[in-house]
Amino acid sequence: MNLPDGWDAEELARAKRLAVQVRASVSDDAQIFAARAPGRVNLIGEHTDYSGLPVLPVAIDRSTIVVAAANTTREIEVSNVDPAWPSRRFAIERQIPPYATGDWANYVKAAIQGVIDHFAARQLRGMSIVVGSTVPPASGLSSSSALTVSTAISFMAINGLELEPIETATMVARSERYVGTHGGGMDQAVSILGRRDHALFIEFDPLRVRAIKMPANAALVVADSQEVADKSGKVRAEYNRRVVECSLAARILGRALDLDGVKILGDVVRALPNLSAANLVEKLAGASPQRLDPDLKEAANVLGVSQMKLDAELLGHDSTRIELDPNRPLEILKRARHVLTETERVIRAAGVLEAGRLDEMGKLMNASHASLAQDFQCSTHRLDALVESARRGGALGARLTGAGFGGSIVALCDAPNAGAVIESIDRGYYEKFTPGASPENLRAVLHAGPGASVIDLSVNA
Ligand code: GLA
Repeated sequence: MNLPDGWDAEELARAKRLAVQVRASVSDDAQIFAARAPGRVNLIGEHTDYSGLPVLPVAIDRSTIVVAAANTTREIEVSNVDPAWPSRRFAIERQIPPYATGDWANYVKAAIQGVIDHFAARQLRGMSIVVGSTVPPASGLSSSSALTVSTAISFMAINGLELEPIETATMVARSERYVGTHGGGMDQAVSILGRRDHALFIEFDPLRVRAIKMPANAALVVADSQEVADKSGKVRAEYNRRVVECSLAARILGRALDLDGVKILGDVVRALPNLSAANLVEKLAGASPQRLDPDLKEAANVLGVSQMKLDAELLGHDSTRIELDPNRPLEILKRARHVLTETERVIRAAGVLEAGRLDEMGKLMNASHASLAQDFQCSTHRLDALVESARRGGALGARLTGAGFGGSIVALCDAPNAGAVIESIDRGYYEKFTPGASPENLRAVLHAGPGASVIDLSVNA
């Protein structure tokens, strides 16, 4: 039996263990599927995806597996092998009401809602699923998207629904906004479209990917700061604030440059591809104060639109409405400078990685971290210390990866040097910041692995 890439003996054994649990709750002849979706580490292109600008991540060899069997209840029954995540059960309906903010199963609901919205005309069957994951949660490696993707594709399999992978990625990216994070589509795209030994150069609107072979002499050391980056709490507020700041910068720039209908910085970059980041930042500086009040009044004046309309467009409504801290001004110039210069770095990174020029790739990663720390202000003291310890150990470049505010870093190394980088991280970071903890499970050399897939476990039992 030929299995899709990623289903090695170990992954298959994990799925079979989960299947034992699922079989207990469904009839003997139920068809059983196993969906596997990897987490990701982003090499460069941070906080660019929701501006519709490119990113360069890899899917990693850590995954979430969902084993699913059809049931007869029109309900989704969810359990997780990790007791930290309690079992849940909810009905399939046109508009599924979310659990309280922060509930892990909202990612399951997001996936189901996404499939319901996409296949609106279909009558969908319920399923019982068991989830098991080796992607560490809240560590910036996108365990949430691994869960959403694996749930969505298992639900599609149960219902005999098929989509091209690129369409699935677009669907799931949209669906994850259900949890209230106004994210871009990077995590879902790379989890679905990832390729073994390759990084993906991903562009948006519309979604396109180009696989770039990872140079054989490169190693990726990924280290968890143990500073929890929980996307449903404080990090979500910080993240959504950045989404608003970037969109405001784009609108002001669009108006200054006489462009119609600009909503995100990608609209500007695509309309005027010959203007450099430096040019664009200069134009923005001439058209906008560096900071704007969070009530959007001043912003509406600068843009010549009504405050109410701007509020509705930028902050949305209901459960996914973005609440801005009224006491902090919105940073316009710094955020735009990060996104626009990061875009130039990502494009250069794709070229230098393809050419195997690891030194240059490392320098771009270092510059990315500096920009994230200074202009995007999503690094932390601990992330900076972790990055420093990797560099001291000889990493060619190191940066925070994912949304930041905690979570993980990624360090690019010459493969023979990975051990020295890890040693330096252990001594320079873990000994100081997590004394007593054994660092073995917190940092590792991770490899670019394949994207998500589903297998029929009734056949592969
Ligand atoms: C999170 C989001 C992504 C992306 C990154 C920052 O991981 O889910 O869409 O915006 O942050 O690059």
